[in-house]
Amino acid sequence: MNTLEAIGTRRSIRKFTDEPLPDEIVRQILTAGTLAPSGKNRQPWRFHVVTGEKREEMIRVMREGIENMKASGQDIGSAEGSARVMAQAPVTVFVFNPQGLHPWLARSIDQMFEDLVNIQSIGAAIQNMLLAAQDLGVGSLWICDVFYAYDELRRWLGEEGEMIAAVSLGYPDESPQARPRRSLDKVAKWV
Ligand SMILES: Cc1cc2nc3c(=O)[nH]c(=O)nc-3n(C[C@H](O)[C@H](O)[C@H](O)COP(=O)(O)O)c2cc1C
Repeated sequence: MNTLEAIGTRRSIRKFTDEPLPDEIVRQILTAGTLAPSGKNRQPWRFHVVTGEKREEMIRVMREGIENMKASGQDIGSAEGSARVMAQAPVTVFVFNPQGLHPWLARSIDQMFEDLVNIQSIGAAIQNMLLAAQDLGVGSLWICDVFYAYDELRRWLGEEGEMIAAVSLGYPDESPQARPRRSLDKVAKWV
């Protein structure tokens, strides 16, 4: 599969088969992540790979976070749906910025600047992982609903860094149509 084909055929997958993902495939996907460009080549990522029986604990912690949010009167958006996808996926990778601060903490302009650069670098790593997965016939879902259990998941993973996202992976059990995109005319301007 060439790059443009992988970009064009990738979809967010929310239904996975029960087939486990071989470790070697997960490693290939993570390696693709580490090949992403990064500001000053800082490579500001750390991955936590959750598989097997640990998935149950992960979901318990995610649901605990969602319940805590609800109890404090916060909207939980699509978090319950994302938790269902994570419960079904054979692998979920949490992506952290080890140099990042907790999102609710105040930071200096220098720290903010560095954080912006690091988060873009991590976005590139995640997209590399999604495209590598596509190339390998693996479905993926980029998940930021983990923020609804931000402190709970961080504590469970024993992470001090800034949680950026999770990526669920597995063999797809659906083939969704392409989701709509705004036309280039609406989003690009030739100056
Ligand atoms: C930064 C980011 C966060 C996302 N978070 C979630 C999420 O928490 N739950 C979910 O179901 N989808 C999530 N998605 C997937 C988007 O909903 C999806 O990419 C978008 O609807 C376009 O569909 P496509 O990926 O199939 O092209 C996220 C995507 C991105 C890039």
